Amino acid sequence: MGWNTLDDMDLGGKRVLVRVDINVPVENGAVTDDTRIRRLAPTLNDIRAAGGKPILLAHFGRPKGQHVPEMSLLPLVPALEAAFDAPVTFCADCRGPAAEAALAALDSGAILLLENTRFHAGEEKNCSDLAAEIAALGDIYCNDAFSVAHRAHASTEGVARLLPSCAGRLMQAELEALEAALGKPQRPVVAVVGGAKVSTKLELLGNLVEKVDHLVIGGGMANTFLAAQGIDVGKSLCERDMLDTAAAILAKAETTGCAILLPSDIVVAREFKAGADNETLPANSCPADAMILDAGPETVARIAAVLDDAKTLIWNGPMGAFEIAPFDAATNAAAQKAAELTRAGQLISVAGGGDTVAALNQAGAAGDFTYISTAGGAFLEWMEGKALPGVAVLDTSRVLA
Ligand code: 3PG
Ligand code: MG
Repeated sequence: MGWNTLDDMDLGGKRVLVRVDINVPVENGAVTDDTRIRRLAPTLNDIRAAGGKPILLAHFGRPKGQHVPEMSLLPLVPALEAAFDAPVTFCADCRGPAAEAALAALDSGAILLLENTRFHAGEEKNCSDLAAEIAALGDIYCNDAFSVAHRAHASTEGVARLLPSCAGRLMQAELEALEAALGKPQRPVVAVVGGAKVSTKLELLGNLVEKVDHLVIGGGMANTFLAAQGIDVGKSLCERDMLDTAAAILAKAETTGCAILLPSDIVVAREFKAGADNETLPANSCPADAMILDAGPETVARIAAVLDDAKTLIWNGPMGAFEIAPFDAATNAAAQKAAELTRAGQLISVAGGGDTVAALNQAGAAGDFTYISTAGGAFLEWMEGKALPGVAVLDTSRVLA
């Protein structure tokens, strides 16, 4: 597929509806992590530099079609003004006469922020009336919200059908990085997948065994795979009802030629707490009263060897209980190895999804990765091989309705 970027659009004097994801953590009315906001700055700068008028469309939280005052976007205005170095005017509705009036009164050089699109029930239903009302406010639609692209909502999908559309700079960077990692990757490709449960990453693992050369499985879900091989995992987190599924994934990997790397040594403890007494044992020797909280050094060395030979890495999820030291050791070591190879120009490394960014930041490795996605759920659905509605609708080869 192909998509237009801002470079393909004539922005001068145009009203540009920009779908952004500013669903950021807020505490006591102040933004506590403005990463998602700062990464939108290139898009806003480029639109303004080309003489376009940016109108921001965004959701916040899950108000389910109701007007929930605590989920207003108004408190985000100062963080947006700081990140974009421009005045931001707020309008309390994302459609209708109020939005039209705010747009008419907008100072040149200013950015208009429209209220939470999810205050209207039509947003999540991708209602065509709401999409038309929103589209009436703009001349061009620019989607810069990859992290909401897995939602087929009026502001992510419906509006794109009604206006000339393009990807913003952040969306463009996400798509290019993801395409480089799974679309047409340089091989060998390694996927590192961790996290607690197989059940939440079933489709993802099923897709990866078809696409990657090596699949490293860590975190709690590795225990389920060990158990599927008949290994006793003691009191470890383990999804007993997923053993057949895990075995099926292992069998599928054999047919596709994907080498699966599971822990061969484990770090076990009797308590789940920072600094708990622990020991390192072979993976098949977890005591009945202990739980596996991390992979051991031999496993880390095997991961490092796979990474040494790899050209491309996709990473989602921690390798162990990274939030409690010393059970962050395998995650940190593997992340630092990936960072080192990326710095040396040997590896293209892409990471995303939920805890992953926190884990890589904690390892001090995030800054060296080739690309860190801002997306959680959308990154996972992309790893599952699903078409993302907000991306698919931008496809310039799509037959227009
Ligand atoms: C996110 O923060 O994950 C995105 O903004 C999407 O939000 P949602 O999961 O509520 O659709
Ligand atoms: Mg989400």
